[in-house]
Amino acid sequence: MFSSSSLIGVCGAGAMGAGIAQVAAAAGHVVFVLDRDAAALDRGRAAVAKGAAALLKRGKIDATEADALHSRITWTTSSKDFASVDLVVEAIVEKSDVKTALFQDLEEIVGEGAVLATNTSSLSVTRLAADLKRPQRFLGLHFFNPAPVMKLVEVVSGAATDPEIAAAAFALMESWGKIPVHARDVPGFIVNRVARPFYGEGWRALDEGAADAATLDYLYRALAGFRMGPLELGDLIGHDINFEAAQSVFHAYFGRTRFAPSLAQGALVAAGRLGRKTGRGVYAHGADAAMDEPKFLSVSGSSSLSVPIGSEAPELKALLSAAGVSAGEDAALGDRLDIDGVGVAFSNGHTAAARAAAAGRPFAVIDWMRDPAAAEVIAFAASDEKAREAALALAALVRKKAVEVSDRPGLVVFRTLAQLANCAADAVRDKVADAEAIDKAMRYGVNYPFGPMGWAETFGASRLAAALDRIADATGESMYRPNEVLRRLATNDL
Ligand code: NAI
Repeated sequence: MFSSSSLIGVCGAGAMGAGIAQVAAAAGHVVFVLDRDAAALDRGRAAVAKGAAALLKRGKIDATEADALHSRITWTTSSKDFASVDLVVEAIVEKSDVKTALFQDLEEIVGEGAVLATNTSSLSVTRLAADLKRPQRFLGLHFFNPAPVMKLVEVVSGAATDPEIAAAAFALMESWGKIPVHARDVPGFIVNRVARPFYGEGWRALDEGAADAATLDYLYRALAGFRMGPLELGDLIGHDINFEAAQSVFHAYFGRTRFAPSLAQGALVAAGRLGRKTGRGVYAHGADAAMDEPKFLSVSGSSSLSVPIGSEAPELKALLSAAGVSAGEDAALGDRLDIDGVGVAFSNGHTAAARAAAAGRPFAVIDWMRDPAAAEVIAFAASDEKAREAALALAALVRKKAVEVSDRPGLVVFRTLAQLANCAADAVRDKVADAEAIDKAMRYGVNYPFGPMGWAETFGASRLAAALDRIADATGESMYRPNEVLRRLATNDL
């Protein structure tokens, strides 16, 4: 259906349209970019010039190819120039009626075989197609910002989309060097739906005083490998945009609590603290703003303790062996180790206080870490002072920094990952996409260090489902209950 000689029309010369035009032209296509505003076309042209210069500088293209890239793009205010295009990618203002009017106009101009696509983030592809004469040739091609850099494209099929057209668009996106995934037309598609708990849990941890913002953001980076924590990422995106996305998904799902937006983020928006763009969000920005630093405890203790360890403690074993500490195994200890009469275990969803009560001894619970050898820190919650000392002794033993967080079920990073996996499993259940596509989408659409479904499998679905049930029991909130996909995986696990 498409080839490198297909003509591409892009509507909207803004941030997304210019980026998409650059990607199509770089893949060798002749491209027409339409905008109703001539000044926007000039800005779009300048943005592509900057993008091509960056490619040239990085040695990705030579000077001839950079010139060719420019010459392949025609900037226009007339939709008549779209008469012979094979594919239209629309990236105009996010307003349903304006988009519909444009597509109705285009339907009269483009040929019978042309495919029409929208880059909408939040509107229904099925709804936009409903007002068209031929809805079967309409689909979503959802690029991520900046389009020339971000690899993911969600290929969104509405109720009427012809599967052959979706397959052809998928292949075309691959030929553009993108990583496409098929997605069903549901609010938020894959990424903007599955990502909700990343922000929701980050805000909730802050609201509950699990730690201060800088410490929380640091833990997401240091323990899990996210490029940014949820609070600092909100400052970058803009809390108005991030909060609007949260509310739109929440309402679209009729108030499903898994997607609940944060009241505190709403308050920040109401106060005009939108993030970097206003100089203040969660953090202060600008030349003289002091950087908030994570709060570490001072670590001291012997580097030669005797630490008997249970036989069901793979993360603890990895932590000790990475530091060269040998520990005697005592099967009766289960998932914990003992330091001086104190139990220490990675979080299984119980609080340290609950584990102390069950074990009849002080207890410290450690937050999840992606790589026990490489992580520079352990984050823990302690049932009492003795447990705190034991956690610090463990940090000394494995030569890591230490952060204390409040004693909440699932702590911080583990609870967030568990709930991300839960939401990804919801999307699998709802046939938004398969598990592999969801993981790809999260890795290449929002740079997650790993996909939530793959994480759930590696962690162990039965452990995860049990931990989520404990978090739901302890918080009294059903939004943490593991869904049927996780429960089914858990049963297969056993
Ligand atoms: P933008 O505001 O930078 O650009 C929109 C452009 O469309 C403007 O230049 C405007 O003059 C033009 N325009 C508006 N109505 C028009 C019409 N009827 N005919 C022709 N041109 C028209 O917007 P941005 O950020 O590029 O977003 C565009 C679309 O992409 C929206 O649907 C948005 O939801 C979606 N999107 C945005 C992302 C982002 O991070 N900015 C990410 C993924 C999707």
